[in-house]
Amino acid sequence: MSDDALGLDEAYSVKTPDDNRRLYAKWAATYESSFVDAKQYRYPKAIAEVFNDVIPPVTRILDIGTGTGLTGMYVTRLRHAVVIDGMDISPEMLAQAKLKTREDGSAVYRALYERDLTKAVPNENAPYEALFSSGTFTHGHLGPECLRNLLPLLANDGWLVVGVNNEHFESQGFAGELDSLVALGAIQTPDIKRIDVYEPGSVHYGDQARVIITRLIN
Ligand SMILES: C[S@@+](CC[C@H](N)C(=O)[O-])C[C@H]1O[C@@H](n2cnc3c(N)ncnc32)[C@H](O)[C@@H]1O
Repeated sequence: MSDDALGLDEAYSVKTPDDNRRLYAKWAATYESSFVDAKQYRYPKAIAEVFNDVIPPVTRILDIGTGTGLTGMYVTRLRHAVVIDGMDISPEMLAQAKLKTREDGSAVYRALYERDLTKAVPNENAPYEALFSSGTFTHGHLGPECLRNLLPLLANDGWLVVGVNNEHFESQGFAGELDSLVALGAIQTPDIKRIDVYEPGSVHYGDQARVIITRLIN
């Protein structure tokens, strides 16, 4: 299979963190040309827009499942002064994110960390005032149980803006996990928005994601 043939079928067929490492090692160099641009994937931009619309001014932000860094790049287009760190399991995707620049030519990301977010995450550079995630809570990537791994990374009252593939949200019980976290007093009752993942005209137009917007309680 050529790199250009990689796409949603392969992305949705992964099961384990090692599968993800292998997939994104092969895909990193062509992820934007063969997928984002070719399929008119608007998820990173949509998450940046929701983040900008709903989150009050914050400075220290974390991008969960950074990939090639498109979500961070769009956030810096809307909020110029933010400091953004990123975490992802794939060193090849992070190498692409390292190249992303702001409008003034400086790097989008201050620091990038190779982390498996299915496990407890070392607290380097934490706590953050807010985190966002685009495209990483999806089939075979991160499930609802991984939300708990993110909470220790946040400061008191820290914000989460987390996109979740719509089918994955339904099939994996995200609503139940969110109810449990609310019942535990860990997070505020979330607001859930829906966004289109692809632009009109894309072969995948109509696919949607939920966006979980909530706040840590300390
Ligand atoms: C579809 S890409 C999304 C990247 C980027 N946020 C975007 O929207 O373009 C999914 C990302 O999740 C990362 N990922 C998959 N499993 C992971 C895990 N266990 N821990 C951390 N990152 C993971 C992949 O390496 C990949 O960069």
